[in-house]
Amino acid sequence: MCGIVGYAGSRAAQGILLKGLHSLEYRGYDSAGIAVLDGHDGMDVVCRTGKVDALDAALTGRGLAGTCGIGHTRWATHGRPSEENAHPHRDCSGRIAVVHNGIIENFAELKDRLVGEGHVFVSETDTEVVAHLLERFYEGDLLAAMRRCVSFLQGAFGLAAVCVDEPDRIVVTRRDSPIVIGAGGDCALVASDIPALIDVTRDVIYLDDDQFAVLHTSGDIECYARDGRQIEPKVSHIDWDVDVAERAGFEDFMDKEIHEQPRVVHDTLMGRLKDGRMTLDELALTSEQIAAIERIFIVACGSSYHAGLIGKNLIERWARIPVDIMVASEFRYSDPIVDGSTLVISITQSGETADTLAAMRLAHSHGSKVFTITNRVGSRASRESDGVIYTKAGLEISVAATKSFIAQVVALTCLALFLGQERGKLDGATVARLYAELNRTPGQIEHILLDTSAIERAAEACTQAHSALFVGRGIGSTVCYEGALKLKEISYLHAEAYAAGEIKHGPIALIDRNVPVVALACRSATYPQVVSNIQELRARTPSCVIVVATEGDEEIRKSADHVLYVPEIDECFQGITATVVFQLFARFIARARGCDVDQPRNLAKSVTVE
Ligand code: AGP
Repeated sequence: MCGIVGYAGSRAAQGILLKGLHSLEYRGYDSAGIAVLDGHDGMDVVCRTGKVDALDAALTGRGLAGTCGIGHTRWATHGRPSEENAHPHRDCSGRIAVVHNGIIENFAELKDRLVGEGHVFVSETDTEVVAHLLERFYEGDLLAAMRRCVSFLQGAFGLAAVCVDEPDRIVVTRRDSPIVIGAGGDCALVASDIPALIDVTRDVIYLDDDQFAVLHTSGDIECYARDGRQIEPKVSHIDWDVDVAERAGFEDFMDKEIHEQPRVVHDTLMGRLKDGRMTLDELALTSEQIAAIERIFIVACGSSYHAGLIGKNLIERWARIPVDIMVASEFRYSDPIVDGSTLVISITQSGETADTLAAMRLAHSHGSKVFTITNRVGSRASRESDGVIYTKAGLEISVAATKSFIAQVVALTCLALFLGQERGKLDGATVARLYAELNRTPGQIEHILLDTSAIERAAEACTQAHSALFVGRGIGSTVCYEGALKLKEISYLHAEAYAAGEIKHGPIALIDRNVPVVALACRSATYPQVVSNIQELRARTPSCVIVVATEGDEEIRKSADHVLYVPEIDECFQGITATVVFQLFARFIARARGCDVDQPRNLAKSVTVE
């Protein structure tokens, strides 16, 4: 989704803005631009469609001298990707420029009024109304104009604006869209995400909804509350390494992130079992509160939703608490049956997904406690929760969730074990056995990653397919949903996933000689049933049958064209190991089809609009 970067300091802004925009590329975008105040009553604005490289090329040799500017990567919502629609947008006079993340929901009505007053629009975007509103209210103070402007806006926005008449400052505000400010000492930065500023500073300020900030080229940062009071900003320190944002010799970030998974599982598990008991101290739940939970409701989107499905299975299995789950975009507009006896769990790696945040707020309004599983410290979701379990995936750059998904599954597994233990459904010996089994998964993932040639061969057999059908049972069916999503999003090959027992009720009609079947048939309580389902599918002559199976299962070879073995593990944890196979499978197909693995078309890493 769109990315914002801004710099106010004493160095040339151009290079810092471009570098910041490159580091936001993972969010997904289709055009980019910058505006730099030249300090002599002028402003240079350059925009290009396509990648930030095109903007780089357009600026090569120009060397803009200004030390204060804003930049943007745009993910089209209102109007196609074009130079006219790319940000920054300017007012009629060309003296004010603004970049925006989010959606101005009432832009059409505002635009009509502004056009009626004589303002001339040059783009199809919702953002341009902000530039014209700032022009309308500008009386020599950009902060004051911004305050009046946002009082007319409905929707979500992170905004950064500059004005030729105030060449030493950037004015920033936000509502329901992420904004972080960098305190660089002798400079100040603004960005929609930390990677854009971590190269300059690790000291950051998270702006809250309806707060304002003024960033000065001296490095001073003024923050203001919604009522206009100046407030003392709270500075947090970022302690990740910059090199996490580099590919470290891998062909793409997705490959790097897949290979980080043994470490991620290990780190997410670390310290959870103390003196033979599962601990989740960060939730600060008393025994009485745990006993009082009547239901759990999970809300999430995309891969996080799939992790939630695995969480539902394990919580119900071990803690015997009924768990409902709904995609957040549906939950937020439903009339959910949740109250003070329901624990709502939101799952979001970014912590900024608009639908998930809205679902959390709805749950709060019904009196439920909301716990979040997220990968981002300081994110909106973490700040709006009653308790947070942080996954230890580190920064994930590739749009396709891999290590963040695995970390969510591990965190949910720990939560399920903890609830089972606290509700008295699992005895100490069982918790210890399951935890020890879970601890085998990092080594098992390493084993899978050691030799991926069989997965690559199976992928080669599918590159020309026009659709693929994934089937499994129990946790296996959920893993298939995630496998199909991975394949769709990075290779653009259509894929469906079904609980294997459902295929006879419709999906089996899809099978023809162009459709491969991908089945998850690891040893489990339903193994015989899955094998029968594979036979039924095989009888309809798909292009090939690929089976993920447990090492040592030679019998399964009779039912498959390709067998992808994973080490033996309790079926509760097969979601962790089998997913890795599906991630690799999708990536091999995507690369063979010439797709951009890290930045698939039309997709964004953080979906900050509804
Ligand atoms: C998965 O590969 C996608 N990136 C997407 O489905 C993602 O999981 C979804 O948008 C939810 O994001 P979140 O975890 O940041 O809330």
